[in-house]
Amino acid sequence: MPKAREITVSVIKADVGGYVGHATMHPELMNVAERHLLTAKKSNLLLDFHVTHCGDDLELIMTHRQGNESERIHKLAWDVFMAGTKKAQQLKLYGAGQDMLADSFSGNIKGLGPGCAEMTFIERKSEPIIVFMADKTSPGAYNLPIFRIFADPFNTAGLVIDPSMHGGFSFGVLDVLENSEVRLTCPEEMYDLLVFLGAPSRYMVHSVYRKDDGEIAATASTQRLNLIAGRYVGKDDPVLIVRTQSGFPAVGEALEGFAFPHLVEGWMRGSHHGPLMPVSCADANPTRFDGPPRVIAYGFQLNNGQLVGPVDFFGEPSFDYTRQRAMEVAEYMRRHGPFEPHRLPLSEMEYTTLPHVKAKLEGRFKKLPD
Ligand code: 13P
Ligand code: 13P
Ligand code: MG
Ligand code: MG
Repeated sequence: MPKAREITVSVIKADVGGYVGHATMHPELMNVAERHLLTAKKSNLLLDFHVTHCGDDLELIMTHRQGNESERIHKLAWDVFMAGTKKAQQLKLYGAGQDMLADSFSGNIKGLGPGCAEMTFIERKSEPIIVFMADKTSPGAYNLPIFRIFADPFNTAGLVIDPSMHGGFSFGVLDVLENSEVRLTCPEEMYDLLVFLGAPSRYMVHSVYRKDDGEIAATASTQRLNLIAGRYVGKDDPVLIVRTQSGFPAVGEALEGFAFPHLVEGWMRGSHHGPLMPVSCADANPTRFDGPPRVIAYGFQLNNGQLVGPVDFFGEPSFDYTRQRAMEVAEYMRRHGPFEPHRLPLSEMEYTTLPHVKAKLEGRFKKLPD
């Protein structure tokens, strides 16, 4: 259990059914989630909550005093997603229960399909946070923006000029293949860090801490559905929570990390590279080739655990230029059709016909002399 004054922010999400196809969210699913979480708030399990969506992903943003990985909070999210799945089945939505990989809840929602990012801290005098939520991509998509926000002085002026963050940040990096993690500190180990972050399908930042005092600064969902299920079953469209201001990056420095629409894995059938386009929630309905991949940013001021907000940051005109560039890059990538690097390498694809085609052509592949 956390200390008395600590609060926990939990963002737990799942795709329990798309409308239409994988494009967006049916309002009935949001209603189901609202009803469940309101009951939990009335019973004092939650301090507050906000339900939203990014594309076809249902996002539960919750505050409470139960700490990280609380069985009660995870069970609550699980129950919401199960009820959402039932509603999606009734409505015959697409891929009802898509991310629900287990039949029953077993203590912790991690590993059961949904994505989960949580952080516990003592709320500061003023506690502005941003919740980033993405669709049609995978957790490694945040590596580049996280690096820029917390380690790149060309992005974040505070790293140079704010004494309270001049010491830098340390990064918890997960190796999803080996299921191991390493903590690396910037600026000292920046080049080592980039060896890993530059390979985002294998290495993903799960948390960022302020180096001077170890205070939690950011945390991302790093579940990879394909590894959980032993095969690809949908990109696990990730979420990221970032604390901002007064010793953390300013709101504008955190948002600036998304001003370059870098290439990420996901898009059509979870099997293509495409640019990550920052948009408002209303515009997070991936359409063109089921994309391009989207990210939304919701800002909240916490007030004793109340989520005051959201401010839907990326709807703002100053991101128009990024969106325009994203669409130019999307068009350029699309021209490659079924060719890499638009199509993902074979090992990363969510769908593949390779074994089938190879089996069909068995006997026609002639071994060449060494
Ligand atoms: P703080 O140091 O109070 O976070 O202010 C920085 C700022 O807002 C500049 O954009
Ligand atoms: P989601 O992972 O968002 O469900 O998208 C799957 C897909 O195949 C899109 O083309
Ligand atoms: Mg879907
Ligand atoms: Mg999705």
